[in-house]
Amino acid sequence: MATAATTRWEIADAAPKIGTIIRTDKDTLLSGSRASEIREIMESRGVIVFPQINLTDDEQIAFTHTLGTFAYEDGEGAKEGKDTVYPITMDETINPIASYLKGAFYWHIDGTMSAKPILASIMSARALSPVGGETEFCNTYASFEDLPEDEKREIEGLNVVHAMWRSQLYWKPEPSFAELQKWMDRGVNTLPLVWKHRSGRKSLVLGATALQVEGKGIMESEALLVRLRDWATQPRFVYRHTWSLGDMVIWDNTGTMHRAMQYDHKSGRLMHRTKLEGEEAFA
Ligand SMILES: [Fe+2]
Repeated sequence: MATAATTRWEIADAAPKIGTIIRTDKDTLLSGSRASEIREIMESRGVIVFPQINLTDDEQIAFTHTLGTFAYEDGEGAKEGKDTVYPITMDETINPIASYLKGAFYWHIDGTMSAKPILASIMSARALSPVGGETEFCNTYASFEDLPEDEKREIEGLNVVHAMWRSQLYWKPEPSFAELQKWMDRGVNTLPLVWKHRSGRKSLVLGATALQVEGKGIMESEALLVRLRDWATQPRFVYRHTWSLGDMVIWDNTGTMHRAMQYDHKSGRLMHRTKLEGEEAFA
């Protein structure tokens, strides 16, 4: 006699103000039956961890499609018309532009150089570093909501100029002029400091690409950006994920910042990432 298929679906908080751990099985994820619930949790909690779910690349791509519009890496896949995972590694034999990823060791939001940033990233651990390499996330909704009311009023309406080269200077403070020019080819992008989402919720837009608050002097601008980053990344808004092989983590790129903790660049650490196309412009 056939028995009804059992599906596992256990939910727990990862940290009080950010992160949810979902223990489930591949079939449940790939069926798409929980997709809208996953999107709701992602928006409300910022990060979802699927411990040791062990999806293959093809399964991760299929899962990504259940959640929204699959986003291609610049110049990848789309041209060839195929969906691929993107290797996050410091090994240049696997990813020739690995050095650009060094900006990821500092708090940032992906896509601050575009009008509409990606909605989410989905990352699976394929190889780990024996030491370090955790990923930290902070909740930029909660950190805005918890600011004193007068401070919220003070910063709402401010705009910040973002530049990709600013984040590159974090890891390479003395680039050659040619290198700087290459980074500067990406231009600058002016974004609101407080993002008013369609949902009505508001989040902080900060990170390593934040260069200058418009209308403020250099000192005042830097002091504000550092003070807010310091506020938003204090432990009560942060979840640090210590990876196990096969873990998959998905995060709402529009309501969090993230960074990788340092690790041995020769350790072979390898993450496979897919992304969801942005659905909402910075506003
Ligand atoms: Fe990133």
